[in-house]
Amino acid sequence: MKKIILTSIVALAAGTALMAAVNPSACKGCHGLHFEKHALGKSKIVKNMTHEEIATALKGYKAGTFGGSMKGIMKGQISKYSDADLEAFSKTIGK
Ligand code: HEC
Repeated sequence: MKKIILTSIVALAAGTALMAAVNPSACKGCHGLHFEKHALGKSKIVKNMTHEEIATALKGYKAGTFGGSMKGIMKGQISKYSDADLEAFSKTIGK
């Protein structure tokens, strides 16, 4: 029994690692489906930002070097991703 539980935990962890790409459905509640909103009335409209600006913002939130008064919210959203994942994702949104 113990072995079965252990195996499923390992399988779950492996599955999570494979799904490391940023999932935009986690962002839409605040930023809108197409990143067209001021998240919580506070952020810039991300779809009007350049890929470069978005990459800088996301990596900066993760490193704690970027953001305004609500940066803690964003850190919680993206700190689980690698910088490479954040960069790749930033090319799929914005302009
Ligand atoms: C719980 C609400 C919430 C969720 C979910 C959320 N964000 Fe944010 N986001 C914010 C807020 C609030 C800010 C502004 C934070 C600050 O003060 O710097 C922000 C800022 C940003 C910025 C920088 C914009 C600027 O003003 O410079 C980017 C880029 C961004 N978010 C992308 C994302 C992505 C990508 C996701 C999904 C992985 C996401 N956000 C999920 C609330 C959220």
